[in-house]
Amino acid sequence: MEQVVRTAVLVSGSGTNLQALIDAADPRVELDLVLSDRFDAGGLARAISAGIDTVVEAWGGDRDSFTERVVGRLLDRGIELVVLAGFMRILGKEAVEAFSGRIVNIHPSLLPSFPGSNAVSAALAHGVKVTGVTVHLVDEIVDHGPILAQEAVPVVDGDSVESLHKRIQAVEHRLYPRVVGELADRIAHGRSAVGL
Ligand code: GRF
Repeated sequence: MEQVVRTAVLVSGSGTNLQALIDAADPRVELDLVLSDRFDAGGLARAISAGIDTVVEAWGGDRDSFTERVVGRLLDRGIELVVLAGFMRILGKEAVEAFSGRIVNIHPSLLPSFPGSNAVSAALAHGVKVTGVTVHLVDEIVDHGPILAQEAVPVVDGDSVESLHKRIQAVEHRLYPRVVGELADRIAHGRSAVGL
C-alpha cells in the first residue's frame, strides 16, 4: 500500500501553488493542514474549498516565539512534511531542527541568484536573459538550503515583473507538486531527500 505523508502547507498570499498541490491530488501527500500568518491570505479560502483544515498563527513577539507557536501547531497535528508556498515569514532554528530535511520552499529564481522577496524584479533589473524556479530544503539561512530541483525560465524582450512572474508561476505549478510528491516518497521510505 502507498504510504501517505501528513503534510502542512504554509501560505501568506494568494496560494496558487497550494492550489496546484490540491489539484495534483498526489496519493503520497495528505494535505492535512494549511497554516497562514495572515487572516486575509487567499490560500485559506482555497484550503476551505478543498476541505482542508486551516489555522492562522498571526505574527507577534519575536521570530523565536512565532516559530515555537507554529512548530507547536504542526507537531500537535502529527505533521511530517512542511511545504512553504509563498509564506512570507522566516522560521527560526526550532523549525529547522524539528523538521530537519522535511521543510521545503519554492523560490522564483535560480538560486543562489536573487534570494529574497523581490527575486523577479531583481532578475529583471539585472538584465539576466534566463531566470527560473528553485525548490529547496529549508535551512537556517533564507533561500539557501540544499537544492532539490530547478527549472529555467527565459526572460523575453518587453517583459514586466508581472509577465515574467506569470511565466515563472506556470513552471512553479508544474514543478512543485512533482518535487513535493518525490520528497513525500523519500520521507515515507526513510530516505534522504538530497539527490532527488
Ligand atoms: C511564488 O512565486 C513563490 O515562488 C514565492 O511566493 C510566490 C507564492 O505565490 N515563494 P502563490 O501564493 O503560491 O500564488
